[in-house]
Amino acid sequence: MSLDIVILAAGQGTRMRSALPKVLHPVAGRSMLGHVIHSARQLEPSGIHVVIGHGAEQVQQAFAAEDIQFVIQAQQLGTGHAVAQAQPGLDSTITLILYGDVPLIQPATLQALLTLVNEDQVALLTVELADPTGYGRITRDGNGKVTGIVEHKDASEAQRRITEGNTGILAMPTARLAGWMGRLSNQNAQGEYYLTDIIAMAVADGLTVATQTAEEPMEVQGANDRRQLAELERYYQRREAERLMTAGVTLRDPARLDVRGEVTTGRDVLIDVNVVLEGRVVIEDSVQIGANVVIRDSTLRQGAVIKPFTHLEGVIVGEAADAGPFARLRPGTVLEARAHVGNFVELKNAHMGPGAKAGHLSYLGDASIGARTNIGAGTITCNYDGANKSRTTLGEDVFIGSNNALVAPVSIGDGATTAAGSTITSDVPAEQLAVARARQRNVEGWTRPRKKTT
Ligand code: UD1
Ligand code: CA
Repeated sequence: MSLDIVILAAGQGTRMRSALPKVLHPVAGRSMLGHVIHSARQLEPSGIHVVIGHGAEQVQQAFAAEDIQFVIQAQQLGTGHAVAQAQPGLDSTITLILYGDVPLIQPATLQALLTLVNEDQVALLTVELADPTGYGRITRDGNGKVTGIVEHKDASEAQRRITEGNTGILAMPTARLAGWMGRLSNQNAQGEYYLTDIIAMAVADGLTVATQTAEEPMEVQGANDRRQLAELERYYQRREAERLMTAGVTLRDPARLDVRGEVTTGRDVLIDVNVVLEGRVVIEDSVQIGANVVIRDSTLRQGAVIKPFTHLEGVIVGEAADAGPFARLRPGTVLEARAHVGNFVELKNAHMGPGAKAGHLSYLGDASIGARTNIGAGTITCNYDGANKSRTTLGEDVFIGSNNALVAPVSIGDGATTAAGSTITSDVPAEQLAVARARQRNVEGWTRPRKKTT
């Protein structure tokens, strides 16, 4: 059984009140359409066809790198019309319809739905709703067999009391689709070509319609405005928090963690409040993350400790190493085991060897820092001359005094020391002391200036 997936994403999304096409609005750091495409991929379809219209160029650009067939629907004449635009490009046995603005649909739900579809049967995902206003309603005969879908605006009073709603997600035998598309009409309350009309057509053609009820209504919830977008975001975050807790992570407050990417965690991880994890983040056993920390695309090895208000991006924090509070670790930075980075220290493309320390107020960029080397407070690597970047290389067991300027390219040998306040412009051999500052002069009998009296 081969599968084509059609994702409807041509609608305008007026209620977002945005220059950004609706389906590009993010949930958990990824566009809604991105979520749907991601879930669609996991079903290993032979084709993914995205119907676009409003903001078509922007949507195409956002997914230019992906293997997707874009289908332009120049005018939004309805969901049926949208699918009709994609139909000529469908050649698999089964076609599954998804919505670009229903981002949290899970592959497992779709897998289950797909087990219900065959050449004589359409599979329809429905949802039980406390308030079904606006939704298409599933109509059934006396035996409970589905007979069709009636849109809210076309429904009678009695039909409006039906609480089984159409999610819009359905799967059907592709061979039937061309015929059904040809029979669509827009003679209805909204003057649109309704995709939902194919359900009655399928029944008329002797097919049965099997339904599956979504267990989690939020999974099939669309976002039409920013309020609904926020609801989806919170639901997603709650689900991620549950997943992490199940995996053995202690969250000080599950409502105050935001995951915007893919996070893997070990056991006995502790995450304090207001932490944001973005991109790919790997957190090994016994890591502790303090309050108000932002971590993007980073790996924290076993026992690493990140103290409050620290920002990490593209870094590896080694075993039992620690950073913060108020540290900024930028891309290319590696802290080896037990390295220590303290408050108001910025590292960029810096490698700190095992047990190396930079405790306070430093900028270390494009630097290699050997094992156990200590960087005094206020030390700056001068890595940029306005045109090019250069490296600073410090050996093992180096002691850099406070308030040094290390003018790269420069290297300092193992066991060397630099005096406080030094501006180091040339290499320092191993074990030597470099003093590179003006000598102190004391002026005897000096009198302070006094305020003029007039
Ligand atoms: C649709 C269903 C309704 C269901 C509801 C669930 C129809 C006729 N009705 O109604 O039964 O309960 O979804 O949310 O299908 N789109 C296009 N091109 C168009 C029109 C729509 O691509 O010409 C896309 C939209 O971008 C959106 C999706 O299709 O992603 C659904 O369209 P929308 O107008 O929201 O449908 P509803 O009226 O909500
Ligand atoms: Ca809708």
